[in-house]
Amino acid sequence: MKSRERLRIAIQRSGRLSEPTLTLLERCGLSFRDGSDKLFCFGEDEPVDLLRVRDDDIPALIAQGVCDIGIVGRNVLEEFSCANENAACKLQILRPLGFGRCRLSFALPLENEYRDAAQLRGARIATAYPNLLRRWLNERRIDAQVITLTGSVEIAPKLGTADAVCDLVQTGATLAANHLREVETVLESEAVLAAPEELPSDGRGDLIDLLLRRLDDVNRVRGTRLLLLHAARGSVEAIARVLPGTPRLTVLQMDGAPDQVMLQALCASELGWRQLEAIRRAGARELFVLPVECALA
Ligand code: PRP
Ligand code: ZN
Repeated sequence: MKSRERLRIAIQRSGRLSEPTLTLLERCGLSFRDGSDKLFCFGEDEPVDLLRVRDDDIPALIAQGVCDIGIVGRNVLEEFSCANENAACKLQILRPLGFGRCRLSFALPLENEYRDAAQLRGARIATAYPNLLRRWLNERRIDAQVITLTGSVEIAPKLGTADAVCDLVQTGATLAANHLREVETVLESEAVLAAPEELPSDGRGDLIDLLLRRLDDVNRVRGTRLLLLHAARGSVEAIARVLPGTPRLTVLQMDGAPDQVMLQALCASELGWRQLEAIRRAGARELFVLPVECALA
């Protein structure tokens, strides 16, 4: 295949990961023309483009070299790797990304009791992840019938075509709506940055290195909040006591008001409304809570 000079990243076109993926790439400092509706998005300032596709197609596009890297659920990546164990091009996870968390789980109709996995012997299990499921069953020497469906897995028990499902669960709403109960987890998943085991050795490899550094900068401060507030000098200690975790504090003297300060606090977690109320009661005025987008080490 002719080598490209621009880095091409495969991302999910529409679904759970689409928006957080674009937000993450933007936080890394990348911007794209037609960022939200086109199949191909051209990178504006950096030679980094996006291909927006079905998530299930992302691993194969990377393996074939159509894209250099991709952002995809660990579930989709593992299913691909399980199905292509002997393929020449193996894929690796460069970074877990901490969003799009969900799990691949077994679920049974509400009225069925569940004791342990041995109960699945001989069962008909509907799933969109047949290879992952078979691996899990084989590891436990459970002989069951795997029924591969590409969508609407959750209605199979109601239709009488399966006894159990093995499907993705995030909020659990889909299972609840179909009178199913989650009983056992097969795989914990989240969005990951996927790449071939062998990274390109040309300029695209350098771009991947750069992207990894930016990703680490962004992830280091994820959820971090910068608090700015005014207070009497005497209240600083009381305010510090109600801040979450062990925040980094900076106290600045206000010009012409010797007993007034501006307090700056970097908090590692988000602040709930009760915490904000406690900070106000401790004497904070003009409180600003700012999200931190990126921090360079
Ligand atoms: C998954 C899964 C369920 C739903 C569960 O599909 O197949 O239908 O999400 O989520 P919940 O627990 O929040 O209700 P998804 O929308 O991710 O689509 P895909 O697997 O076809 O890409
Ligand atoms: Zn999908």
